[in-house]
Amino acid sequence: MRKIVIHKPGGYRQLVIESHPDLEPGPDQVLIEVAAIGINYADCVTRMGLYASAKHYVGYPVTPGFEVAGVISSVGTAVTDLRPGMAVLALTRFNGYATQIVVPREQAFPLPPQLTMETAAGFPAVALTAWFALFELAHPHPGDRMLVHSAAGGVGSMLVQLGVIAGCEVTGVVGAAHKVEAVRRLGAAASIDKSTTDLWKTAEAIAPGGYDIILDANGVVTLRESYRHLAPVGKLVVYGFHSMLQTRDGVPRKLRLAVDYLRTPRFSPFDLTTRNRSVLGFNLSFLFDRKTILSGGMHALLQWLEQGKLAAPTVTAYPFEAVADAHRALESGQTVGKLVLTCGQT
Ligand SMILES: NC(=O)c1ccc[n+]([C@@H]2O[C@H](COP(=O)([O-])OP(=O)(O)OC[C@H]3O[C@@H](n4cnc5c(N)ncnc54)[C@H](OP(=O)(O)O)[C@@H]3O)[C@@H](O)[C@H]2O)c1
Repeated sequence: MRKIVIHKPGGYRQLVIESHPDLEPGPDQVLIEVAAIGINYADCVTRMGLYASAKHYVGYPVTPGFEVAGVISSVGTAVTDLRPGMAVLALTRFNGYATQIVVPREQAFPLPPQLTMETAAGFPAVALTAWFALFELAHPHPGDRMLVHSAAGGVGSMLVQLGVIAGCEVTGVVGAAHKVEAVRRLGAAASIDKSTTDLWKTAEAIAPGGYDIILDANGVVTLRESYRHLAPVGKLVVYGFHSMLQTRDGVPRKLRLAVDYLRTPRFSPFDLTTRNRSVLGFNLSFLFDRKTILSGGMHALLQWLEQGKLAAPTVTAYPFEAVADAHRALESGQTVGKLVLTCGQT
């Protein structure tokens, strides 16, 4: 099998393709011949050496990757309901950037007929992230005003669709004109292209009373204003900090990172109480042992997919060998939907 290994944190050159012995499934595991691999911004952060759960669970060397689609080639002795030859999508905590992977049985799901290997590989991590942010943390109500930053991206495009399913009035914020149409197609009632308009003036015009839910993975550039634009009883869900990660050749600018770290707002419990606002945060990669989250979320998401209420993000595919180009593209901030790697096998 081949896998992409990061031996030490850094730029794109750290993504090294290596050959390794084939894997065997443990008793409650399935072995998957991987056809396609979803790329997440967290993989780039892992490459940069700044992803806490990569350091916590693996250290370096590390093979990034949270999601794959492929065909089961063998199953462990305790697995009775999945068989070799079945097409599946799977979640994994790291090791996804590989042509072969073993995952616990409960992290593999039969491939929904609506999805190709490529679209399936780009679905579970962002869909589960959006589901958790919205339904486990924000608890939306029909009619809620919801603002989604980076709404055309992987997680963002799922948040917009899930907000619509929950009956919310969704405003999607994007950083480039070519993303506006994608956000509208996802069902957003309004969109804001912050590259051409004043983000917060426009957001105020759309929801003069503030937003009931705001989802923010930008970090320092918007977090303070996101908090300020909550309506009473509004919830700000924080789940990433990508604006801090300005890079040169894929290597983070350390001084900028330190300054942005210090500039990141800290929220006062007194202010939260007086203004009836909540700030919630999470990182799904620390929650893999919470089986009910994984299975409950995936069950709901796959059902919406089957009912045609939810679509997987649009994907742009790169060959396995072009992983550095894919990381570079994701970090450019210009991509729409998901990027996936294809392994040339089904
Ligand atoms: N907490 C969790 O469990 C969890 C799980 C999955 C993902 N995440 C986080 O969710 C966010 C989205 O992840 P994703 O994989 O779906 O990525 P993505 O949204 O497809 O791509 C990132 C987007 O962020 C915006 N952006 C702003 N500053 C950026 C910068 N310096 N570099 C790159 N992009 C920048 C760009 O969109 P606009 O310019 O249009 O805003 C860009 O398209 C990331 O911050 C990721 O770490 C968190």
